[in-house]
Amino acid sequence: MHMTALSNNDLGPLRDALTQAGLPVDDLTYSGRQFFSFNHQGVDVGFAGIEGEGAERLLRSLVVLEGQRGRGAGVAVLAAVEAFARREGVERLHLLTDSAAAFFTGQGYQQEDRSLAPASISATAQFKTLCPASATYLSKRLV
Ligand SMILES: CC(C)(COP(=O)(O)OP(=O)(O)OC[C@H]1O[C@@H](n2cnc3c(N)ncnc32)[C@H](O)[C@@H]1OP(=O)(O)O)[C@@H](O)C(=O)NCCC(=O)NCCS
Repeated sequence: MHMTALSNNDLGPLRDALTQAGLPVDDLTYSGRQFFSFNHQGVDVGFAGIEGEGAERLLRSLVVLEGQRGRGAGVAVLAAVEAFARREGVERLHLLTDSAAAFFTGQGYQQEDRSLAPASISATAQFKTLCPASATYLSKRLV
């Protein structure tokens, strides 16, 4: 899986994929976010991002392109983002999801009550405004 960092000028295809998947796009260009595209053997398969700084960060905007789903790309993209995060010194990743909680629990994420999220994670736009209160909160310790 080849991972490419995206600049703010390159976010169009990510925005389209997130819109199609019903995921938030309003804050993509704000500071403190890093987004990546992924391709496998020259074929674009999806995107993912990390938000925040320090040991606790938000995993966000993980999306596999519709024609590429169900073949392990999601697992491979997630593994690549987690490896990047470890190299950055991240100790725990956090996320909210409406529809893919079982995908993440299959990869070692644990569902928790939203009130247990660290303050820096609760303060993100996804937690405060962009994701519905019904979204499932999960986290995974990387180290
Ligand atoms: C969630 C998503 C990234 C999974 O990508 P994918 O390439 O289809 O996933 P994989 O093929 O790697 O699937 C791995 C496993 O997760 C399961 N899985 C995939 N999507 C799932 C979902 N939405 N809910 C529950 N389980 C799911 C698969 O059945 C598979 O299980 P198996 O190993 O028992 O066969 C993809 O469906 C997607 O882009 N969804 C829309 C965006 C989204 O919801 N993102 C997550 C919030 S940030």
